[in-house]
Amino acid sequence: MATTVILSHDHRILTSGFNCGKFLLDTYIKTQASQDVKRKLSACFVSVDHVSGLIQGYYTLSNNSIPLGLIPENYRRKLPHSYNSIPATLLGRLAIDIRFRGLCLGKMLLIDALSRSYEISKSVGSFAVVVDPLDDEAERFYTKFGFILLPDSHKMFLPMKTVGKLFDEK
Ligand SMILES: CC(C)(COP(=O)(O)OP(=O)(O)OC[C@H]1O[C@@H](n2cnc3c(N)ncnc32)[C@H](O)[C@@H]1OP(=O)(O)O)[C@@H](O)C(=O)NCCC(=O)NCCS
Repeated sequence: MATTVILSHDHRILTSGFNCGKFLLDTYIKTQASQDVKRKLSACFVSVDHVSGLIQGYYTLSNNSIPLGLIPENYRRKLPHSYNSIPATLLGRLAIDIRFRGLCLGKMLLIDALSRSYEISKSVGSFAVVVDPLDDEAERFYTKFGFILLPDSHKMFLPMKTVGKLFDEK
């Protein structure tokens, strides 16, 4: 099982060699992630390989909202119509270095992110976990894990109720 830790100053050198094959996600961890963490714009979690010391993968979480009108009707009808937008948790980025692909690390980091999001939702309301897939390949990955496309948007969501069922909510 991969364990994740909060990105810290000690990881700075390690992030410089990160390569997931997607320029935006590589550049983000190398140049912007620690600034975003410092400014409280997002939290960034990394998984470090204990043998090589390399960063295997990372993900980011932040608060977000979904316009009520974007939520598919079968979910929307159970929500208060007086709300313009619904609180959510954004899993903004998720990437695995190409040297660690196919080892279930993507799946493990996704589960780790869902678990953290679910725990946070017990103290700060959050209706769903939202992701913003970079391309069709990323969309296929999230579809495999049950994420649903938000109409008229490239974003996808997984209701927190569904996430809760993976963990402790009955
Ligand atoms: C997408 C990504 C995170 C997957 O990581 P990974 O460690 O290689 O994937 P895993 O080994 O955990 O795969 C878990 C399962 O998802 C499947 N899978 C992996 N990538 C997939 C994709 N793009 N589409 C559909 N299924 C995918 C695997 O076949 C595996 O299936 P199984 O459990 O039935 O065997 C990784 O390829 C990556 O970092 N890609 C570049 C960045 C990116 O696109 N991030 C997505 C968010 S923007």
